[in-house]
Amino acid sequence: MLVCSCNYITDKEIREVIYELLDADCWQLIVPAKVYHAMEKRGRCCGCFPNVVDLIIQTTEEYHARRHSTEAEIFDFMSRLRKFHEENRRADIERRQKGHRAA
Ligand code: FES
Repeated sequence: MLVCSCNYITDKEIREVIYELLDADCWQLIVPAKVYHAMEKRGRCCGCFPNVVDLIIQTTEEYHARRHSTEAEIFDFMSRLRKFHEENRRADIERRQKGHRAA
């Protein structure tokens, strides 16, 4: 399924990069820009980023389920990951609203 129409990136390609990043450091916080940087791509309109965030969360959960991390480790990490992405999403919305008001 095509996720990023600006760069023609599929969900499969994004998942593969997320797995590679998690293999390098399974407890790092992954953001869309990090995924795109690893693919040598850039967000253009960034309209795909919310879907990339969902893929990051799903793929990270699957990765840790296969890796047999303890439930406490997974719960703690996934809570931090979700909170991190929620805060970023909220900051993006606020930034857009401020930009809209100024225009
Ligand atoms: S849809 Fe991905 S950057 Fe535009």
